[in-house]
Amino acid sequence: MSAAGQKIGQDIMQEPVVFDRRSFRDALAAFATGVTVISTVRDNGERIGITANSFGSVSLDPPLVLFSIAKRAHSLAGFLHAPRFAVSVLASDQGAVSNRFAVSSGEKWDGTDYSIAENGCPIINGALASFECDRHAHHEAGDHVILIGLVRRFERLATGEPLMFFRGSYRALAPNAEFPDYAGNEPKVLPPLNGFDPWTSG
Ligand SMILES: Cc1cc2nc3c(=O)[nH]c(=O)nc-3n(C[C@H](O)[C@H](O)[C@H](O)COP(=O)(O)O)c2cc1C
Repeated sequence: MSAAGQKIGQDIMQEPVVFDRRSFRDALAAFATGVTVISTVRDNGERIGITANSFGSVSLDPPLVLFSIAKRAHSLAGFLHAPRFAVSVLASDQGAVSNRFAVSSGEKWDGTDYSIAENGCPIINGALASFECDRHAHHEAGDHVILIGLVRRFERLATGEPLMFFRGSYRALAPNAEFPDYAGNEPKVLPPLNGFDPWTSG
């Protein structure tokens, strides 16, 4: 990097970032995601869960995943104290579940269709996939805490469509007009572009 480039970089690091918060959120919302419920259980048996679209894969070996939780979330202390958590990847017909776990209240699990996973955490029945994790690490990051989980066990459904979140609304996957060969009713997997595999290229 040029000397001028370094100077700009340093300035950016040192000066407070000032821009419109709403615009920033809107720009972030252009990144379409799936939706998960992340759950754990307190020592007293109380179940905890939040809707999160910050879930992401981190590492294959060891198998690591992450999500970030707002410091203001009521569940934060529970997640930081618990040695384990679980992730349920919601299906397209589980928007009501997402809404239920996106509000702060103790009533989230009443009336929710769930099971207790082998690691003791509740998982949402009908989820496309679930991951049972040991809490591996946590990192403070601004107004959120990033939690990293070591996946001990996972399950997935062979079929089913995901609940998507885009520009602040739930969405559904649609066939991509650029790939008409894949516009059939059968669920089909697009080949990685130009054979690119994000996990093996390097
Ligand atoms: C689609 C969607 C995604 C969300 N993703 C996150 C997230 O990644 N992290 C987070 O802290 N809150 C996220 N939220 C908000 C929490 O679900 C919400 O604040 C919840 O009330 C927290 O519960 P608690 O206060 O009982 O802990 C999301 C909400 C929605 C609707």
